[in-house]
Amino acid sequence: MPVSTVTVRVPAKVNVQLSVGGRRPDGFHDLATVFLAVGLYDHVTATPADGLRITAAGRDVGRVPLDATNLAARAAVALAKRYGVEPDVHLHIDKDIPVAGGMAGGSADAAGALVACDALWGLGAPREELLALCAELGSDVPFSLVGGAALGTGRGEILTPLEVGGEFHWVFAVAEGGLSTPDVYRECDRLRLAGGGSDLAADLPAPGADAALVAALREGSAAALAAALSNDLQAASVALRPALADTLGAGLAAGALAALVSGSGPTCAFLAPSAAAAAELAGAFPGGAYPALSPAAGATIV
Ligand code: C5P
Repeated sequence: MPVSTVTVRVPAKVNVQLSVGGRRPDGFHDLATVFLAVGLYDHVTATPADGLRITAAGRDVGRVPLDATNLAARAAVALAKRYGVEPDVHLHIDKDIPVAGGMAGGSADAAGALVACDALWGLGAPREELLALCAELGSDVPFSLVGGAALGTGRGEILTPLEVGGEFHWVFAVAEGGLSTPDVYRECDRLRLAGGGSDLAADLPAPGADAALVAALREGSAAALAAALSNDLQAASVALRPALADTLGAGLAAGALAALVSGSGPTCAFLAPSAAAAAELAGAFPGGAYPALSPAAGATIV
């Protein structure tokens, strides 16, 4: 039965492992990354409209594009094209995930738009179809759909679900302004070349999952996870935004078990030993920091 409005809740992510291999001929980098969905959410609401319209509210709303370049708009258009329907929908995005923050906010909105439009238009698209559309839209979009925890290979879009045996408490310190993901990958390549190495996939070993990290997730051990966190893009993000080194240090000084840049940054992620410790740690960042729990469910109609 057609519905008149659908709201989908979509989580942010942190990459607890982000191993970057070489640059491929298509310009993307081979990855072995472990995605963990965190309880910081955007909400995408779809209602019928004449044509495609995007509105947004919430955090960083001034930096959300409201035209056809918005990844949620591109998701609606791709789904409509695939099923031969008109992309007539008003998508309203309520943002809580930082924009261009390395937490897959744009990808979350795209996954949310796909699920919302599928329900609004009564398409009943199979899960595999939605996942294939997600992969076309961006490397992080499939994970926004599935949530939980997963190993991402290829350019990040090939997912293998991972078991998580407990809850992890995080604090995310947001930075003023975003970082461009392509810029951060380019800087990573530049640092490799400057260090005398190669940046090409043909020259570098394919990255693989870190067994100790996968075990830490399975055991639900925050101490073991803290010891295993890694992000190959961190040096590049810090090179482009040197103040991030201070943010990471401030979180460790305030009692975090571990600190790392989230994805391509500039949001910094801190692992805390408990909910109380996370709340206290968040207070150490007057510029804005948000406690969040993981794992979190993927795109869900609410
Ligand atoms: O896939 P997505 O659109 O999120 O990627 C944004 C940009 O990030 C790409 O155009 C590319 O520059 C970079 N990227 C990469 N290797 C990946 C994922 C992203 O170089 N595995």
